[in-house]
Amino acid sequence: MNTQMESGKPNSVRSVLVRALVVGVLLLLVRFAYVVTIAGESCKLSDFCFLSPPENLDLVVSGATAAAANAVRSTVPSPPRRGEGKDWIEAVRFYGSVFRDLVSEGFLSRASRALCIESGSGQDVFALKEIGVADSVGVSKKASRPLVISGRPHRLPFGDETFDFVFSGGGRFDKLPRPLDAAAEIARTLKPEGFAVFHVRANDTYSFDSFIDLFNCCQPVRSRDFAGLNTSFPKIREIVLKKVSDFSILSHSVKNSGGDSENSCFVSESKRKLVRDAEPLIVDEPLKPWITLKRNIKNVKYLPSMVDINFKNRYVYVDVGARSYGSSIVSWFRKQYPKQNKTFEVYAIEADEHFHEEYKSKKRVTLLPYAAWVKNETLSFEIYRDPGQKSEDKGRGMGRIQPVQSSSDGEVAKIEGFDFAEWLKNTVSEKDFVVMKMDVEGTEFDLIPRLFETGAICLIDELFLECHYNRWQRCCPGERTSKYEKTYGQCLDLFTSLRQSGVLVHQWW
Ligand SMILES: *[C@@H]1O[C@H](CO)[C@@H](O)[C@H](O)[C@H]1NC(C)=O
Ligand SMILES: *[C@@H]1O[C@H](CO)[C@@H](O)[C@H](O)[C@H]1NC(C)=O
Ligand SMILES: *[C@@H]1O[C@H](CO)[C@@H](O)[C@H](O)[C@H]1NC(C)=O
Ligand SMILES: *[C@@H]1O[C@H](CO)[C@@H](O)[C@H](O)[C@H]1NC(C)=O
Repeated sequence: MNTQMESGKPNSVRSVLVRALVVGVLLLLVRFAYVVTIAGESCKLSDFCFLSPPENLDLVVSGATAAAANAVRSTVPSPPRRGEGKDWIEAVRFYGSVFRDLVSEGFLSRASRALCIESGSGQDVFALKEIGVADSVGVSKKASRPLVISGRPHRLPFGDETFDFVFSGGGRFDKLPRPLDAAAEIARTLKPEGFAVFHVRANDTYSFDSFIDLFNCCQPVRSRDFAGLNTSFPKIREIVLKKVSDFSILSHSVKNSGGDSENSCFVSESKRKLVRDAEPLIVDEPLKPWITLKRNIKNVKYLPSMVDINFKNRYVYVDVGARSYGSSIVSWFRKQYPKQNKTFEVYAIEADEHFHEEYKSKKRVTLLPYAAWVKNETLSFEIYRDPGQKSEDKGRGMGRIQPVQSSSDGEVAKIEGFDFAEWLKNTVSEKDFVVMKMDVEGTEFDLIPRLFETGAICLIDELFLECHYNRWQRCCPGERTSKYEKTYGQCLDLFTSLRQSGVLVHQWW
């Protein structure tokens, strides 16, 4: 009894299953017969098929004509890697719509030879082929054949004037370690009248201007912003550049030629706005400058906290009057200055030989053991010892330097001075990001005018300047230091004129 009932149940379940299966198979067969005979085609990708390609591929090419789809399929080595399938397809769709827009605007056509740099696994190349730009290829550090071959943006493995269209997506141009070299390579491989299109993060005018300045070859044609595909790149700025045949006519390569004896350099409106947005200058002379000026560092609006500093060729910090390695280079610049993960080259300018020894063991710091001056000549200076400071190191400093004179009262030493403005012009260019700290015991009243006169001032992106004046003394209330002649008013004038000329200068201590 029991065994019969137990065996009877599974039997009836089985027969139901079998019937369902038969019906299902019949339905499938009818559908297949319809597709093949009525629709009259061999299994179109957008239709239901028994021999369908991997589903994700199907999604990508749905909507394309059968011919185009087959063309695409034949170029695809394998379906996207497991796990990234959905992202891959979404990225291809996204790039597809981007490229269709570029086609409709005339920057790209099916006949274009196209290159995608830093293409990764080649979603952008795939999208190009999908819309019919058959002659397209990507380069990336790691090849992903056949869409992407191995190649670095600063050394593209192609001949001159090869491409009609170069694309750089995903904000990857922002992260290139050598953007200027990459820009030169794009210029080289692009045909005259060809277009280069970038998706970058340059959302402020300063970084937009720096970006444009990287390309001597090309003229900006248009720029627009739109929402990105994902959170890793939420807001995209799309910039279209056109390669011109005659580079010399480009205004932006001429405007920054910076530093003829003309004393004029181009200051963009974006830079002027940054200067206006900087922390206000301290207008009234502080009664306790040793407190006020030190505290002011908290108010400083650093340039890299206001703008994106990608798109510069090199990153350079010049410490004029560096003193010991630990004083401003380490305690302030290395630890506190916001560097946006850039590696800075450091130049320490320090004439006092007392500090020279420790620099010998420091890597990535170049010591110039001379005094920053307005020309190459031998100078004399007083060894100054601050009576209020016990420590030899802290109290030690060079007095104001001056050309060698015969009379010498007090402790005087000789030192080699060099033409600082000329050195700066030979060392950095306007495509570099240059931060400078200057603490030169009153010599700023000679150096700053010389920087203006030579145009070298235009090379400095951000300046931290200690202005030396007859300040109130901490040691002795009611007494001013006799070390410097200038007044606070003269210092304020110096800062004001720098800012009016478009130099982002901060009051330093
Ligand atoms: C994010 O979007 C970009 C396109 O702007 C694409 O290249 C990238 O692969 C996407 N990243 C992820 C993690 O999906
Ligand atoms: C630009 O983007 C950065 C993040 O990438 C953001 O911190 C900054 O506020 C943006 N600036 C503007 C002006 O939108
Ligand atoms: C700097 O790099 C670190 C780790 O590599 C990263 O977490 C951080 O977001 C980066 N910062 C900027 C401003 O790019
Ligand atoms: C000053 O000295 C530097 C370094 O020795 C040299 O390169 C430069 O040409 C000199 N300038 C002048 C005007 O003599």
